[in-house]
Amino acid sequence: MKTLKEHFKDKFLVGAAVNAYTIDHDKELLTKHFNSITAENEMKPEHMQPEPNKFTFEVADKMIQFAEDNGMQLRGHTLVWHNQMPDWFFTDENGNDVSREELLKRMKDHITAVVSRYKGRIHAWDVVNEAVEDRGEEMLRKSKWIDIIGEDFIDYAFKFAHEADPDALLFYNDYNESHPEKREKIYQLVKGLLDRGVPIHGVGLQAHWNLYDPSYENIEAAIKRYSELGLQLHVTEMDVSVFEFGDERTDVKEPTKEMLHLQAERYERFFDLFTKYQEHITSVTFWGISDAYTWLNDFPVRGRKNWPFVLDEKGEPKPAYHRIVK
Ligand code: G3I
Repeated sequence: MKTLKEHFKDKFLVGAAVNAYTIDHDKELLTKHFNSITAENEMKPEHMQPEPNKFTFEVADKMIQFAEDNGMQLRGHTLVWHNQMPDWFFTDENGNDVSREELLKRMKDHITAVVSRYKGRIHAWDVVNEAVEDRGEEMLRKSKWIDIIGEDFIDYAFKFAHEADPDALLFYNDYNESHPEKREKIYQLVKGLLDRGVPIHGVGLQAHWNLYDPSYENIEAAIKRYSELGLQLHVTEMDVSVFEFGDERTDVKEPTKEMLHLQAERYERFFDLFTKYQEHITSVTFWGISDAYTWLNDFPVRGRKNWPFVLDEKGEPKPAYHRIVK
């Protein structure tokens, strides 16, 4: 049976999100199946610059070295987000918001330090993450970035990243990317960036999906719509939860046969779609490696286990694996 990276080698990269633990403990599984990695948390601003001008590059350096030693790519995640920013970033020594100029300077300094350190070694960066508002009239989510800088913080982030590494592919990355209302907002946001000549090269579809949502129709409509932008598409954080939204059960100790069957059916159709649009989709990353660990174990129900991947807790192929590696 072919490994994931062998099976999809002529189509797209197959990636996994790694963390400080799995990069050490799952080496074999990682190099067997994947040719791309993303740091799940370790390259986010709160990890990279926990204090002003004090950068902690050790774990990220190790991940990049691991990727290079094993002929893998690394997707950089992420530079500008409303979440996992260090506390000091938006405030002065008195705890007041900094000025627009000061925040732009801090943004530029952060992006320049991180992106230029890995210049030529990170092929794609999620420059701005999750800036679009999920529902309603507002285009952009409320955040310190908007409050202090204004809507053009996104333009600046991409410009600073491009200056630091002109060859890196720069992505806008978001979730609920396949829901019609948000899809259109993301499309309009990116279209606006392109119209203004902002250096952006791709759209990241996070793909945090479950057994029932989103529908295949909505996912295909999203892929088609984003393809019209003429940019690369990356599936950046894929997982398929075995629980529906709103299912808050805590007593499920293992996935049922039906869950695994439905999950396999979903994965098969998702990868059929990715293959259909392989001209646009150049990378597909799972937000983890195997069911041994997933952020979904704690979300949205604390302490509840989930089984969202195609490799089981022992790293062995699940029914979903067999359906995508046909
Ligand atoms: O490191 C601390 C640990 O010291 C502490 O004991 C523990 C107690 O809760 O928390 C640990 O930090 C957690 C961190 O993950 C590392 O495990 C944080 O609480 C927790 O909030 C953090 O969650 C991460 C989440 O982003 C933050 O929003 C998830 O691991 C990570 O998978 C998730 O990734 C995001 C993407 O970046 C963007 N798209 C959505 C995706 C899923 O939420």
